[in-house]
Amino acid sequence: MSEQQQQLKRLVAAAALEYLRDGMILGIGTGSTVNAMLDQLVPWVPRLKGAVSSSDASTSRLRALGVPVLDLNEVDDLDVYIDGADETTHQLQLIKGGGAALTREKIIAAAATTFVCIADESKLVVQLGRFPLPVEVIPMARQLVARQLTEMGGRPVFRAGVTTDNGNHILDVHDLVIKDPVAIESDINQLTGVVTVGLFARRPADVLLLGTAAGVRRIDRVT
Ligand code: A5P
Repeated sequence: MSEQQQQLKRLVAAAALEYLRDGMILGIGTGSTVNAMLDQLVPWVPRLKGAVSSSDASTSRLRALGVPVLDLNEVDDLDVYIDGADETTHQLQLIKGGGAALTREKIIAAAATTFVCIADESKLVVQLGRFPLPVEVIPMARQLVARQLTEMGGRPVFRAGVTTDNGNHILDVHDLVIKDPVAIESDINQLTGVVTVGLFARRPADVLLLGTAAGVRRIDRVT
C-alpha cells in the first residue's frame, strides 16, 4: 500500500470518529482502514461502553486498547457499525471479505442502525466485480459450490491456506458480471454449502466516507 493510500485511510478513519458518542457500543469491522481508525481510538476508550467485533484480529486490537469486546447476543441496540470495503458503488452497495471476515461483518451490519463505510477513493466503482467476490463456504461443500458458481458465469478460486474465524473456506469469484447485486447476492446465498457471499447489496452501507486527494467526501445512501 502506498503512503498516499495509507494517508487517505487515516483521513477517513478520523472522520469516522465523528459518529462516536459517549457510552456507545460500537460495531467494528476488519481491515487496514479499520485499523487506521483503531490507531486513533485511544481518547475514546474510556468513553465507550464496549465494542462488537467482526473478527479475531479486530478483537485482539480492541482488547489491546482496553475496549471491552461484547458478544452481539448480549447487545440490544447497536447504533453504529464502522467498516471498510473492497469495492463500493455510488449506491453504497459493497463487496467485502478481502480479509475473510465477511460473515461476521454481515451479521453486525444487519444488527446496526447505521453502517458507516470508510474507504479510500480507489474503492469507488461504477459496477461491482472487478475485485473478486469472496464467498465463505462450508469446507466439504467447496467443490460443489465452485461448480455452481462456474455455471453462474464466475471463475471461483480457492483461497488456499485461509481458514475463516468460523472454520470455513473462501472462494474468490473472478469475472462475475454483477449487474443486479441484490439478485446475485440472493442467488449465491441460496447455494447449499454457502455460509455468506461478500456482496452487501440487500443491506448496503448508510454512509460512505471516501478519502480523496481533496479531502473526505461523504455520500449518504438515498433511501
Ligand atoms: C474484511 O473481510 C473486509 O471486508 C474488509 O473490510 C475489506 O477487505 C477492506 O479492507 P481494507 O480496509 O484493508 O481495504
